Amino acid sequence: MKKHILLLFVVITGFFKVKADEGMWLPQLLESLNEKRMQSLGMKISASDIYDINKGSLKDAIVSFGGFCTGEVISDQGLLLTNHHCGFDAIQNHSTIDKNFIRDGFWARSKAEELPNAGLFVTFIVRIEDVTEQVLSGAPQNLTESARQSIVDKNARQQLNLVQKESYQNAFIRSFFDGNKYYLFVTETYNDVRLVGAPPSAIGNFGKDTDNWMWPRHTGDFSMFRIYAGKDNKPADYSPENIPYKPKKSLSISMSGMKEGDFTMVFGFPGRTSEYLPSKAVEQIMKVNDPAKILIRDKALKVIDKYMRTDEALKIQYASKYAGISNAWKKWQGEVLGLTNTNAVDKKLKYEAAFTDRVNKNPALQAAYGKLLPQLNGLYEQIKPLALARDYYLETTSKIELFTIVQRIRALNTKRDKGSYVGALKKEIDWMTGFLNELSIKVDKEVFAAMMQLYRENQHPAYVSAYAQEAYKKFGNYAAWAEALYAKSVFADKAKVLQQLKNNPNALFEALQTDEAAQLVVSISNLYDNKVAPSLNEKQSAINQLQRSYMKAQMEVFSEKDFYPDANSTLRVAFGNVKGYQSPTGKNYEYYTYLDGVMKKYKPGDYEFDVPEKLRQLYKQKDFGQYAVNGKVPVCFIASNHTTGGNSGSPALDAYGNLVGLNFDRVWEGTMSDINYDASICRNIMVDIRYILFIVDKFAGASHLVEEMNLVYPKK
Ligand code: ARG
Ligand code: GLU
Repeated sequence: MKKHILLLFVVITGFFKVKADEGMWLPQLLESLNEKRMQSLGMKISASDIYDINKGSLKDAIVSFGGFCTGEVISDQGLLLTNHHCGFDAIQNHSTIDKNFIRDGFWARSKAEELPNAGLFVTFIVRIEDVTEQVLSGAPQNLTESARQSIVDKNARQQLNLVQKESYQNAFIRSFFDGNKYYLFVTETYNDVRLVGAPPSAIGNFGKDTDNWMWPRHTGDFSMFRIYAGKDNKPADYSPENIPYKPKKSLSISMSGMKEGDFTMVFGFPGRTSEYLPSKAVEQIMKVNDPAKILIRDKALKVIDKYMRTDEALKIQYASKYAGISNAWKKWQGEVLGLTNTNAVDKKLKYEAAFTDRVNKNPALQAAYGKLLPQLNGLYEQIKPLALARDYYLETTSKIELFTIVQRIRALNTKRDKGSYVGALKKEIDWMTGFLNELSIKVDKEVFAAMMQLYRENQHPAYVSAYAQEAYKKFGNYAAWAEALYAKSVFADKAKVLQQLKNNPNALFEALQTDEAAQLVVSISNLYDNKVAPSLNEKQSAINQLQRSYMKAQMEVFSEKDFYPDANSTLRVAFGNVKGYQSPTGKNYEYYTYLDGVMKKYKPGDYEFDVPEKLRQLYKQKDFGQYAVNGKVPVCFIASNHTTGGNSGSPALDAYGNLVGLNFDRVWEGTMSDINYDASICRNIMVDIRYILFIVDKFAGASHLVEEMNLVYPKK
């Protein structure tokens, strides 16, 4: 018995030791949960310097950038820093053949040259309040999910009506810990955000897909914007009269750099994680869902890549699409590798054994949670084929652009009799024009053949539409089917789609009835909607309900442990130390890279590894200004901060809260931190702020921007 307890103790402290740097913490709870630990890791400021609603604190310098990335204010004139890949859309939209900002970069020489971006916004968090009690009032545990949700929604609406806020502020409520907690956010959103500068892609996206998710890394993944406000410094729609926003707080920039072991934190808006899944769910992601999605994308990418390699125009046309498809494809592979190499499922099983052991020893816990894990694991077993069918449906159909065109026209058709139709049609014409510009029918036809083969042959026949089966049988070969379908379908005729959309959209709506591509799309989506979605949703809501109990149970059973909620695109703080790492295959990695490394990777004229002439010159002349250390310009570094997608553009801060780097990626196998953080290999990747300033100042000659910033030189 004693031995048993000792073993259990070792197992449990084992989890907690390994997970020392794990966590995406709520800023308003740092003081009660994390401050001591952060200070013991080296932090020199207090929790209230990070989050305070009564005085300017670090949180007042952090924004959600467009809802998909993070940005931070770095001057008292509203200058904003984020990643190149976060600002890419804006950079692309302002680019033309003559003014190719993607290739050459862009720098506004004065505020008058800064470029407005319709639709781009940034959101500050004013304050965060716990509204759990109010939102859950009258919603007992045992309600069905939908009954519970309608009570929650009603309560939440009521709270939002009651909240004290200014007319220019907004508020929303989010669920945390799978619906065990609810927090209300008061926010301020600024809609006039202008592009200030961006380096050429050869710097901002150096190494492209080959280096993506990889370490060692040499990418200057940054761009700069400026927030504009009305004359009263409050949010205002774009107007030439608007003035640079004067922030409550802007980040000071440390020129002292980081060394191994230094405390760092990352402050931003992580998108989505699933850290509290049972072992069965993790095993499924690893063995079923990720491999299926990887396989599908692999086939699509092979087709696209083949054409991109032989055709310059296609390379440009498909570059951003390829990057988008390959980003998650590569991430999932790293995730599977990481989960496999660190025995994540075994670790989950041990954790579950410890959980069960404690539950069984306590009659009250036993009564409440005794059946939970077997039930939950059982449901995951039941949802397995449905979740796979969902992945096949979504992953294959979304790669076929012909299908996208049909689906867009179908959606537009449903608005035909509505007042919003004229506006919707105009928007659709704009959207379709851009979409068709980046579409090659030749490529899409081959992608179609590859995707339909997977759809038809790799799935249980019950999930394959009868229409697709029949259509295929007529040809007995995917390429021939594709040829015939694309030759006949009006939706595969780019010029005609656009022309009819402009002059006679009704013709397209009518074609939805007769066109074979449209019939194929309808049959495939109907089968999914009727045979997959209803049971998938039913199982999923049963799982959600049990996950909520399991979450609550874990917090009760391991009450000595502090829990952080899964990421949900709300403001979080991750902290850790600057650290190299050893990959599971035993390779050791340094924690820093330098400009010398850029030059080592340099391949003249290469699509991914070319280096701009000016940068090569600066390197040769060692013209590094104040940005080098011992004759070397630092470029990127890694640390153990727990981050995920959405943390792109987040500031990396030092022990004093000074900006030292810009988060933009994670190391490949470490991407499993979305499911099971493991301090031995999980590292986030940041650009050193001195590399950013070196590029702004020395490469781009935009020293007026550096002058706006507050550079500090803390002693190490
Ligand atoms: N992997 C990073 C992220 O998930 C960077 C992606 C952009 N860069 C690229 N080469 N595709 O967003
Ligand atoms: N590049 C990611 C983003 O766009 C961040 C990297 C990650 O997933 O950690 O948010």
